[in-house]
Amino acid sequence: MSDNRLDHVVRSVVGAVREAVVEEQVTFEEYRAAIGYMMKIAEAGELPLFIDVFMNSTIVDVINRGSHPEASPSDMEGPYFVEGVPHVDGTIKTMDAYKDDEPLVVRGYVKDVSGTALPDVTLDIWSSTPDGKYGGIHDGIPKDYYRGKIKTDENGYFQVKTTVPVPYQIPHSGPVGAMMDMMGRHTWRPAHVHVKIREDGYRELITQLYFEGDPYVGSDCCEGIVPPEFVFPRRVEDGKRIIETTLKIEPLAEVPEAA
Ligand code: BEZ
Ligand code: FE
Repeated sequence: MSDNRLDHVVRSVVGAVREAVVEEQVTFEEYRAAIGYMMKIAEAGELPLFIDVFMNSTIVDVINRGSHPEASPSDMEGPYFVEGVPHVDGTIKTMDAYKDDEPLVVRGYVKDVSGTALPDVTLDIWSSTPDGKYGGIHDGIPKDYYRGKIKTDENGYFQVKTTVPVPYQIPHSGPVGAMMDMMGRHTWRPAHVHVKIREDGYRELITQLYFEGDPYVGSDCCEGIVPPEFVFPRRVEDGKRIIETTLKIEPLAEVPEAA
């Protein structure tokens, strides 16, 4: 067996594809059509979307299986994370143009897996507009809207105000959408709030928070993980929807110093 990881992984992937080709008795025409379609996906710039739709939840599953049982479950990052957005002071910028938006407060603690609250931890939070668009990605929504960084206070507590996101369709007018349509699948994701925590000495946590009763929570088009503990029942305080949670991150195993 090779000790070259690239060789090992590629052999394994190709082996699994070969098995599927044999099992499904794929014809030469289908094989050629598949190559043509992959080229179409690449030409449309939809390769990352294609891989996210079909593979992202599997990678997340691998992360979750390898993580501490007390650590919060990971979820897909998706293609709409933006690096380097500013810290916000308790309120994420939202657009006045959305008259019917519903305020949402996301709050809670960041703790380690033993339950110790962690002060001064930065969280990246991003979610969709009330019509399913992302800041800096879709036309008309500036990059620093519907996303921002916040920090936990001295008690490990954080609180940020934004607006309630909606279920949205992943880009569906290109070849990936057409393929899902041909497969008889829909292209909707349940409404969600993305969270990413990067703290020195801890395993990165990327996850999503969902809303109970959402029509797509049980049928995410990306075969998402949708961890049950992150599906929040409807709660309203002073006219604001509330998501209250504890996010637990796992210390990285100590690497012994080289002698
Ligand atoms: C998202 O969660 O934002 C997302 C995931 C996969 C494809 C498109 C969007
Ligand atoms: Fe998203």
